[in-house]
Amino acid sequence: MKKLYVNPNVKRGHINPELQGHFSEHLGRCIYEGIYVGEKSSIPNVNGMRTDVVEALKEIKVPVLRWPGGCFADEYHWKDGVGPKEKRKKMINTHWGGVVEDNSFGTHEFMELCRQLGCKTYVNGNLGSGTVQEMSEWVEYMTFHGVSPMADLRKENGHEEPWRVDYFGVGNENWGCGGNMRPEYYGDLYRRYQTYVRNYDPKAPIYKIACGASVDDYHWTDKVLETVFDHGTGFMNGMSLHHYTLCTEDWEHKGSATDFDEAAWYRTLKATLKMETLIKRHGAIMDQYDPDKKIGMVIDEWGTWFDVEPGTNPGFLYQQNTMRDALVAGINLNLFNKHCDRVKMANIAQMVNVLQAVILTEGEKMIKTPTWHVFHMYKAHQDGELVESSIENETIGVEADSMVPKLTESVSMAPDGRLHVTLTNLSVDSSEEIQGIFAQSPVKSVKGTVLTNHFKAHNTFEEPDVVHTREFKEISVDGNKLTFTLPACSVLHLEVEI
Ligand code: AHR
Repeated sequence: MKKLYVNPNVKRGHINPELQGHFSEHLGRCIYEGIYVGEKSSIPNVNGMRTDVVEALKEIKVPVLRWPGGCFADEYHWKDGVGPKEKRKKMINTHWGGVVEDNSFGTHEFMELCRQLGCKTYVNGNLGSGTVQEMSEWVEYMTFHGVSPMADLRKENGHEEPWRVDYFGVGNENWGCGGNMRPEYYGDLYRRYQTYVRNYDPKAPIYKIACGASVDDYHWTDKVLETVFDHGTGFMNGMSLHHYTLCTEDWEHKGSATDFDEAAWYRTLKATLKMETLIKRHGAIMDQYDPDKKIGMVIDEWGTWFDVEPGTNPGFLYQQNTMRDALVAGINLNLFNKHCDRVKMANIAQMVNVLQAVILTEGEKMIKTPTWHVFHMYKAHQDGELVESSIENETIGVEADSMVPKLTESVSMAPDGRLHVTLTNLSVDSSEEIQGIFAQSPVKSVKGTVLTNHFKAHNTFEEPDVVHTREFKEISVDGNKLTFTLPACSVLHLEVEI
C-alpha cells in the first residue's frame, strides 16, 4: 500500500485555468475541417464553426486558445485574413504540406471561435517575417476602440467593438522556424517589437510573451532574459517553453501512435516526465532575474509527437491517440499544477486532428480521444488552490534506461472548499492500493471518476467509445483516510468533501 499525504491547510499557489489551455494552428486539418467548415457546409455549424466540435470543447472548459501558430505564425500576414472572403489572398502553407491557404479563417473567425468557446484569446504575432508596423497594426485592429485607421478598417469589416486580446506572443520558435536567430538578436528584436504592442485598454492590458527555449536550451533562456529583462518596465509578462514527448530520439522514426510495446510505453512516459526537470531548470534561471516570479512560464506547446497515421499527408501531423496519450496528459497536467507558482499557462498541441489532439474528425464524424477524457476530469482543478501533497512511490519499467515512478498526483481546493485529487498509475499491468490521509480533516464524502483500459486502447470512428470514463465507487472511508485500489494504466479523479 502507498500513502498519499494531503494537507488541506497548506496552499501552494493558484492554479490558473490557463494551465489547461489549447493550441490551434493552420496546420493539416486542425482549423480547416476540424474546427471551421464554413457557413455553407452540410456539417452543422454556427458561423462556420462545427457545432459538434465546439460543444465537445465547451465540455472540457477550454480556458484559452492560442492561434495562428506555431511555425505558421511567423509567415502569417494578418491583413490577408480580413475583409470579404472572396477577395482574401491565397498563399502556400510552406511549413505544413505546401497546401493552399485561402485565409478564409482569419482574425474575425478566430475571435468568433473564442466567443463560442467562452475562452480567452492568445494571438501569436509574426516577428520572423513580419514588420514592426504590421504587428503594431494588428494589435490596433483588434483592440483599439476609438477612431484610427485600423479600428476603422475593423469596423468596415463588420466588427464595431474591439476584441480583447488576453495574451500576445511576440514571435514563435525564433531559434528555429521563426527566423533561426541567436538569443541576443531575438532579445533585441523582442524589445523593439513589443514596444509597439500597445495597451489601448488600460483595464485589459495585454500579457506579452517572449519566445522561450526549445526543450533544454538553457542558454537561450538566460540570454533572452539578460537582453530583455528590465525590472519594472513591463517589457515581458511571460516566456514560452516548448517540449514535445517523443518515444525515440530519432525524428525520422518517431514510432507509431497505436502500435507500440511496453518498452515504448515506458520510454514515452519517461520522456514526458522530463517536463519537470525543464520547469525546474528554466525556472531556476528565471529566478535569477525574477525572484518574485512575476514572469510566467508559458508552456505553449506540449504533447506527444508520433509518426503520422499511415496513408496521411506527412505535413499534416495527424496521429491517433491511445491510453498512452491519456497518461502523458495526466502526468503533465499534474506537473503544471505542482509548479503553478511559475507556470501560468500551458497549451496542448494541438486541439483538433493534429499531434496529441483532444478531438479527431473525419467528414461529419467526430470522436473524443482519451486525452479529451483526461481534460474532462482535470477541469475540476481550474481556478483551484494547489494543496500540499505527496505520495509514496516506486520505480517501474522494463529497460534500465527508461525506469519511471509508478505514480503521479496533484491536489487542489476548489473555491467551494472541495478537494480535487488527480492520480496517474503509469504501470501497464500492476494496480496499486492507495491510502489517502487528509491531515486533520475527516472525509465527509467522496466521488470518483476513472479512465482505465488496455495500454494501447483508443477510440476510432467505427468504435468511438472504447475508451471512456466510468464512475469509481470502490473507495472506503474511515475518518480522515480513504482507501482504494488504483487500476493499472489509469487516470483517476476524486472529489473529496472534508
Ligand atoms: O505544433 C507543431 C509545430 O511544432 C509548431 O508549428 C512549432 O511551433 C513546433 O515546432
